[in-house]
Amino acid sequence: MAEPGLPEGNRPLRDLLGCLLTGLVLFFAVGCNAAPFSYPLSFSAGWNLAGNPLTTAIDVQKTFASQAAVQSVWKWDAGASRWSFYAPSLDATGTLSSFAATNGYSALASIAPGEGYWVHASAAFSLGNQSGTAYSLGASALAAGWNLAATADDISPASLAATLGGITTLWAWDNADSAWYFYAPSLAADNSLASYIQSRGYKDFGTLSLGQGRGFWVNTAGTIGSFNGTIVLGVPTQTSIKANVYSPDQGGSVYIAYGSSPGNYTSRTDTIALTAGSPVELSLGGLIPNTRYYYRLFYQATSGSGPTAEYSFHTARPAGSTFTFAVQGDSHPERVKTQFDANLYTRTLLTAAADRPDFYMTIGDDFSVDQLDPRTINAALVTERYTLQRPYLGLIGRTAPVFLTNGNHEQAARYLLDGTANNVAVWAQTARNAHYSQPASDGFYTGNTEQIPYIGLLRNYYAWTWGDALFVVIDPYWESAICVDDPFGGGPKRTNLWDITHGDSQYQWLESILTNSQAKYKFVFAHHVMGTGRGGIELAGEYEWGGQNGNGTWGFDTNRPTWRAPIHQLMADKHVTIFFQGHDHIWARQQLDGVTYQTLSEPADPNYSLFNADAYRSGDKFPNTGYTRVTVSPAEVKVEYVRTYLPVDEGPGKTSGSVAFSYTIP
Ligand SMILES: [Fe+2]
Repeated sequence: MAEPGLPEGNRPLRDLLGCLLTGLVLFFAVGCNAAPFSYPLSFSAGWNLAGNPLTTAIDVQKTFASQAAVQSVWKWDAGASRWSFYAPSLDATGTLSSFAATNGYSALASIAPGEGYWVHASAAFSLGNQSGTAYSLGASALAAGWNLAATADDISPASLAATLGGITTLWAWDNADSAWYFYAPSLAADNSLASYIQSRGYKDFGTLSLGQGRGFWVNTAGTIGSFNGTIVLGVPTQTSIKANVYSPDQGGSVYIAYGSSPGNYTSRTDTIALTAGSPVELSLGGLIPNTRYYYRLFYQATSGSGPTAEYSFHTARPAGSTFTFAVQGDSHPERVKTQFDANLYTRTLLTAAADRPDFYMTIGDDFSVDQLDPRTINAALVTERYTLQRPYLGLIGRTAPVFLTNGNHEQAARYLLDGTANNVAVWAQTARNAHYSQPASDGFYTGNTEQIPYIGLLRNYYAWTWGDALFVVIDPYWESAICVDDPFGGGPKRTNLWDITHGDSQYQWLESILTNSQAKYKFVFAHHVMGTGRGGIELAGEYEWGGQNGNGTWGFDTNRPTWRAPIHQLMADKHVTIFFQGHDHIWARQQLDGVTYQTLSEPADPNYSLFNADAYRSGDKFPNTGYTRVTVSPAEVKVEYVRTYLPVDEGPGKTSGSVAFSYTIP
C-alpha cells in the first residue's frame, strides 16, 4: 500500500525550534473563533488531500468505514514523524492495527481540528455538507518541519504565510491534474515564484483559497528569531560559498541550513560560536554547479533565537549561461547629506537585490578611513568603518556575494606599513578581510599570493571566470611603495607619477590572466585609472596606464623596462570588453581602442549631482544616483544605468528603478 507523497520526499526537520512567543500571541488572537461554518465534503477517484476546518474532530471509522469507494485514509503525525493509516477493508477484518504496526504506521482513529488528511478512493463520492464551528489555523498548531494542515479561513497562501510567519513552503494537491500547487514566501519576495513553479512543473495557487475543506502541507522553519545581525556572502565557486555573519550585540551560536529547493535544507554547516561585535565565516560546501540554493541562518542564544527568513544564491555558471551582476560606485557613507543618504542607499541596494544578480561588485571608497583623526586613530576606529557598511551591504550580500575593490580613501596601502601590527594599513586590511569574505588563489580564483606580516593574504587583486566572462579586480594602491593619492594625515602628494605603481607582481599577474583566459568577455575593475586624477580615457595615455610622460612624450620604456606594454595597451591587445572604474562620482560611458571605459555613479547621493563632468570630454554622461546592472549572455553584454531616487524626489521622468541609459556589446 503506497504512502501518499510528501513534497520532495522530505521528512520533518526535528532539530528546529518550537513555537515560542509569536505562536502564543497568534493562538490567543485567532484561536477563539466561534463562527458557524459549513463546507461540502466530496472526493474524486484517486488521491485527495482534504482537511478538517471545524472545531470538532472527524471520527475516521464513523465517517469512512461504510464508504465502499474508500481504499485508505492517511494523516501525517508531525510530532511522531510518522503516518497514521486507516483502511475500511482491514478494519472490517480486524487486522488494521497489526497491519499498521507491521508497516511502521499507527492506526488512524481521528482527524483533529485544523489537520489535513489524504483519502485514496476508487471512485468519486460525497458526504454532503459538514457544519460546525469554524477553525482558524494559528502558528501554535504548526510544528517545525512538515505539517498536514487545514483552516476554515478563506485565505490565500500568501496571506496565511504573512499572518503566521516562519512558513517556508506551502503545497496543495490537485487531484484532477495529479499536480502540486506550490507557494514559497522567499520566491514571491524576489519575484521568482512563477519561473520556479514553471521549472518544477508545479501549479500556481492563483486565486485558490485554503479554506473550504482543503488540506495542505505547510513546511515551517519554526518561529522566526530576531537575529540582530547581517549575512554577507562571498567567494562563490561551483561547489562552495562563504557566509560572513556579524551581529553588533548578540552572541551565541550559528549555523546555516541549505538545499536546492526552498525549505528543503538537505545540508548544513557546522555550528560555530558567535561573539557580539566579531564576524565569523561559515563555509557552505558540497554544492552543485550552476544551481540556485536556498538557506536560512539558525541563531541560538538565550533570547532572539530562531531562524532568519529564507534567502538564496547561485553557484558558478558554465560557459553559455545568461546571468546578471551589478556594480556600484563610491558609496561614501561618511559623507552624510552631501553624498550619502541612508534611505537612498538602502533603496539602491534593495532595487539591485531584486534583480537577483549572481554577485555584487563595489568599486572602492566604501570604507573611508582617512577621515579619522591621525592623532587618535586605532584598530577599533578603523574597524568601525567596516561594520558601518554591514547593515547596508547585508541587504544585498545575503543573496549576492559581495566583491570589494580597494579605493583611495580606504588607506589600505603598503606605504603605511611600519613593520609592526599597529598601523593604518594593517588595521584597514584585517578589518576588511574579517568582515567581508574575499577570494584568494584556490583553484577557482587566482589572485595575490604575497603574505604580508600581521595580515596574511591581502585578497586585494583576484580574478575568476563566470559564464562566458572573465572578471578581474585590480588594486592601484596596495602595491605602490609611494602614496598614490592623498597621504593619510595630510602632507604633499608625490610629484612624479612614475613613482607610483601597480607593482611588477600585479602587472605580470594581470598580463598572464588576460593572456590565458579564453572567455568571450573580459571585465576589469579598479577604483580608477592609475588610482588618482580625474577622467576616464582622458588619462588612459599617461604613465604606466598609457606610457606617456606628463608632457606627452614617451616615457614607458625607460620607466617600466620589464613591462610588455602599458596597462591600457595590454587591455586593448587582450580584448578587454569593459574597464569599470569609480572615483569621479559620475556615470560615464566612453570607448578607446575597442575597450569600453565605464565610470560608475554613486549609489546614495541625495543631491543627484553631476560631478567632474568637465574631466570627461567625450562619451555619455549622467548624474548620480543609482547602480549599474550588467547582463551577460552568449550573444551580448547588456549594460544598464539604473537610477534610484528617494520617494520624495520621484516625479515625471524620475522613477526609481528606471533605466536612464543602456548599451550592448556583441
Ligand atoms: Fe575615490
